[in-house]
Amino acid sequence: MWLLALKHFAGLRSVFGCLLARIQQVDCFVHTASFQPNQQECELLGILIATGATKTNIKALHKLGFAIQEAVRTIIPRRCEEANANTRKLWLLQSLMCELQLGMWSGIKRKMELAESHSQVILTMLRRAGRFQDSKRPVPEPLAQDTGEVLQRKWLDWIHQESFKRLAFHTFISDAQVSMTMLTNPNISYSELSIFFPAARDLWMAEDAEQWKDLYFKRATGQDRHLNLLDFLQQPGDIPDYYDTSLAGLAILCGIWGMIWQHLQLSAVVHRQGEVAAKHQSMAALLSLRREDLMRTLMHFRVNIASNQTPSCPETELVLEVVTMYLFVNFSDLQLFAGKGDLEDARRVLPSLQQWVTTQDARQAVWHAGQVLRAAAVFPPKQLDRFYAVAVYHAGLTLWAYGVISQMRASADKGNAPFSTPCLQVCLDGVESPALPVFFTLGRHMPMVGSSRRGMDLFPLSDPQSVMDVVLATLQGNFPTSANEEVVPPLVENLMQLLRDLGLAARNVEG
Ligand SMILES: *[C@@H]1O[C@H](CO)[C@@H](O)[C@H](O)[C@H]1NC(C)=O
Ligand SMILES: *[C@@H]1O[C@H](CO)[C@@H](O)[C@H](O)[C@H]1NC(C)=O
Repeated sequence: MWLLALKHFAGLRSVFGCLLARIQQVDCFVHTASFQPNQQECELLGILIATGATKTNIKALHKLGFAIQEAVRTIIPRRCEEANANTRKLWLLQSLMCELQLGMWSGIKRKMELAESHSQVILTMLRRAGRFQDSKRPVPEPLAQDTGEVLQRKWLDWIHQESFKRLAFHTFISDAQVSMTMLTNPNISYSELSIFFPAARDLWMAEDAEQWKDLYFKRATGQDRHLNLLDFLQQPGDIPDYYDTSLAGLAILCGIWGMIWQHLQLSAVVHRQGEVAAKHQSMAALLSLRREDLMRTLMHFRVNIASNQTPSCPETELVLEVVTMYLFVNFSDLQLFAGKGDLEDARRVLPSLQQWVTTQDARQAVWHAGQVLRAAAVFPPKQLDRFYAVAVYHAGLTLWAYGVISQMRASADKGNAPFSTPCLQVCLDGVESPALPVFFTLGRHMPMVGSSRRGMDLFPLSDPQSVMDVVLATLQGNFPTSANEEVVPPLVENLMQLLRDLGLAARNVEG
């Protein structure tokens, strides 16, 4: 088989070093230091190479990557048929997860649909094996006297357990991210994930068993090592540094997203067509209490986790902002207005959006959208892809709709419009300023974006075309391409095209 040939490809180890370095994101789940390419199954090897290839900026390699992904996608079910036990093996689950991820964020319609519908397969395998639950298995811990063979074995055992744990967290996080992207129900509930948070990143990244042991003893002992997502959701607090705080933070936000999603669903039923039926009055009151509660939870997260992170984690910050933004806008309406449906749909949602732009909710939404741009601007190069690129697009869409609809109102009733009495500038993608609370409560001042990009001017939201340029520059800036043959990932390219179209559409609305 040709995948076998890959195994013997000369210099594979060094190729791997750089490929693995590229897939080391916050929620990575393949252990790098103990990775022995010549002892791995071909499927895992192949899909990792494919992942690396699609992360380059060379079109031919993207094609190769997607071709390998296609091969792995068809081989994996066969391996499961061959031996049922394979469905519980770490390598198989890792390969399947990488394959699904590659498909899901490929920007290719068919692949995305396949990956989305196959996501249930890995969930079922992990769920049946009890991987989302707190396992009663003891965690292998090094003892002071452990050396050589014994220590090595413990390290490898620990890696095995930790890899499963990280895979479970990765699955949870990516499920939530797909849910935010597609506005569909998350397939893992926040109350289901009861495993403890993964251990600190430096323990995970340790080069060898000795280093692992040293770091293990350096971490304060006696800390509570039984903390999980449910604990935080019940009683928000900080996360001890025994854990991987960035990964735990991301998982918590995805849990909060699950709650927000539920809230939005119920709210859609109760506030159907903008009216609350008599029998739903008490439910409507409950919902508004619940919403305040969700805002408090997000606030706790900001105070306890986001502001304590050193170094700060751009992924967590971006997700925090975008999740908060979703609480303040009816995103499905926004997408219809931007042309996801037909013209009739866009007309139908216009009145409620026109109402929305005058509210404090809308101003909160554009603030958090601006903050998404701010978080995106400090992403490490070439990392602003997959869900993070979609989030930037969603933020852009929110800013665009606010700008376009406010402008429509402004020209319809002059004198009374939000943009007519500007006093101070409120920089939405900058730091909080004293003008911000006034903007929130009274709608005064002029909301602007552009400060997150160096060398760029500030533009008011009333100029949606330039605002789209700022959003585009944010995406583009993360993928510096020099030569002509260098390209950005297909998904990012598609999103950039959508943003360009929005910019043009804004000009037509104005004209
Ligand atoms: C949940 O599973 C269904 C069916 O496989 C899929 O269509 C849907 O997109 C999934 N939801 C998420 C958030 O992945
Ligand atoms: C968004 O608004 C539409 C009505 O315009 C409503 O049907 C839908 O349920 C709302 N969605 C949410 C999540 O509130």
